[in-house]
Amino acid sequence: MVERILELRKLLNQYNYEYHVLDKPTIPDTEYDQLLRELNELEAAHPEMADPNSPTQRIGGQVLEEFAKIPHKRPMLSLGNVFNFEELKDFARKVEKEVGPCEYVAECKIDGLAMSIVYQHGQFVQAITRGDGEVGEDVTHNVKTIRSLPMTIPYTGEIELRGEVYMPKKSFAELNRQREQAGEELFANCRNAAAGSIRQLDSKVAASRKLDAFWYHLPDGEEYGLKTHYDSLLWFKELGFKVNEYSVLCQNIEEVWAFIEQMHQQRDRLLFDIDGVVVKVNDYAKQRQLGFTVKVPKWAIAYKFPAEEAKTKLEDIFVTVGRTGKCTPNARLTQVFLAGTKVGFAQLHNEEQILSKDIRIGDMVIVRKAGDIIPEVVRSCPEDRDGTQIPYHFPKNCPVCNQPLIRLEGEAHHFCQNPDCPARVVESIAHFASRDAMNIDGLGIKKVEVFHERGWLNSIEDIYCLDQHREEILAAPKFGEKSYENLMAAIEASKKNSLEKLLTGLGIRQVGEKAAKILAQRFQTMDALMQATVEELQAIKDIGTITAEAIHAFFQEKKQQEMIAFLKEKKVNMRCLLEQKIESVFSGKTIVLTGSLQLYTRSEAQELLETMGATVTGSVSRKTDLVIYGENAGSKLSKAAELGVATMSEEHFLEEVRKLEQDH
Ligand code: IVH
Repeated sequence: MVERILELRKLLNQYNYEYHVLDKPTIPDTEYDQLLRELNELEAAHPEMADPNSPTQRIGGQVLEEFAKIPHKRPMLSLGNVFNFEELKDFARKVEKEVGPCEYVAECKIDGLAMSIVYQHGQFVQAITRGDGEVGEDVTHNVKTIRSLPMTIPYTGEIELRGEVYMPKKSFAELNRQREQAGEELFANCRNAAAGSIRQLDSKVAASRKLDAFWYHLPDGEEYGLKTHYDSLLWFKELGFKVNEYSVLCQNIEEVWAFIEQMHQQRDRLLFDIDGVVVKVNDYAKQRQLGFTVKVPKWAIAYKFPAEEAKTKLEDIFVTVGRTGKCTPNARLTQVFLAGTKVGFAQLHNEEQILSKDIRIGDMVIVRKAGDIIPEVVRSCPEDRDGTQIPYHFPKNCPVCNQPLIRLEGEAHHFCQNPDCPARVVESIAHFASRDAMNIDGLGIKKVEVFHERGWLNSIEDIYCLDQHREEILAAPKFGEKSYENLMAAIEASKKNSLEKLLTGLGIRQVGEKAAKILAQRFQTMDALMQATVEELQAIKDIGTITAEAIHAFFQEKKQQEMIAFLKEKKVNMRCLLEQKIESVFSGKTIVLTGSLQLYTRSEAQELLETMGATVTGSVSRKTDLVIYGENAGSKLSKAAELGVATMSEEHFLEEVRKLEQDH
């Protein structure tokens, strides 16, 4: 009996693979069903033989209470975008300047959702969504229902693969047909449908959605003895994974472009939705050499197909106010289908754009959608006017708080300057709670609006006092005990965030995610950052004068100091928890470079020193700890001698760097 069970599992896995991966079924469906039934019966009679990866377990059934949050072992990054051949060539130029001429792999950019899957001892064990790139959700129960995904593989070490779960166009059409019949709301596109299906707590629902997946990335491929990305795709296939067949090895960027043009033409005939082509440097050693920016690998780029356009009527223009007070005009449109989604609103940017494009209320307009970005009004169609169209006048007062708007010299935007403007307050709080900042799940803009209206949330500080309104919140419509508890847990969890998340959330002018990370790594604590002078801030690479001044000014404000003190009292973490930079003799030092260096350019040497925790400044003073000098060093070196500042030759510097490289 045991043997028959094992034999049936093996057979069914094989048939499954032939049908769903190779697309070449070798037995009729009825026979498959019969074998599956036999296995089901045997397993029922022998519960000791249960196996979560048995073919019988793939039809769904497991229902979760909620998704577990799982941190990714390595962050799941996104990609930079290019939109034309010039930009693509630019990407290649930068790459090849760094690593010389190289091969690329061009692949379809599948329009689904990114997924990480893990196997141990040859068994599928876990699937995690991308989430915010650092922490995803465990959707193992749903991913298991993807029939093309092998539950067992002939590799027994631990391995993580990444790829895209998507809904084939056919499944999408069928799903929407059923939903229409049932009077349910339709999904706008394949991606939304796939994402909605993966986010089901009941795996039976996910199973019924007929999802599929392509696998396209092996993090740290070199650890598996592979030399190139293309080899990893071949290995995936050998292991039984589904790899997109339109993945080609190109000798240069021109060949990549030819592939892009070919895919653009074929796009509509494919069985799955794509929104572009992903281009990756093939050689792993070269990928390693190129490395990453904060968010994206430098060895890969996404080419996005041109935006689609549509014509519709502009019914009205209304102004929204952002957290900085910036006023943005928006168009309300007669709904139109654009690139697979229904569009009812579009951006108009600013007054100047409305005037220069001569956009009037009641006009027919052309709207465009580029990638995921909110649609924009490209132009009006004056030829369609019938005299009922009305020219637009920008409001003189804030549409939310009614204070006068101002538009500074040379500024394109109007601003509401009232710091207590409800729109600004709401946006700032929502920004603080947003994913890239403090990531407080359950405190999106809609919730913040409601809480603000009720008077429970008037500032960032109030987030950490929401528990004082427990009874009222529970009495509010659409707010159960469970969602209240979840919100409180998310708020509590946010206190443990690393400093850069908090800095992002504070909404300091000019300080986005990247600058926040740089600041957190450089200063380590909020206190140290608050005490930094403009000069110290400016000395940091990638922090310009305007940003340095904005940061300094922010921390000088009494209101902000009080807020930070309050958050501290509430036990919000004020330290950087990111991995410490490489410790070296340069860490924490203020260093000046002078003379001409032989091996590095000035900015390369600066970057290197900064990764070792040093600050590089331009002039020698008593605060300077060390001057590193190359050939023909002049006044800075003599100044160092004068002030008794330590010096180091380039050779000595290189020796130190080499030592560090050996240690790591
Ligand atoms: S590679 C570090 N390859 O596009 C490698 N991504 O805009 C990162 N995507 O988050 C991903 N098809 O969800 C890669 N062939 C492909 C892809 C692909 C679709 C998605 C993926 C990623 C997003 C980036």
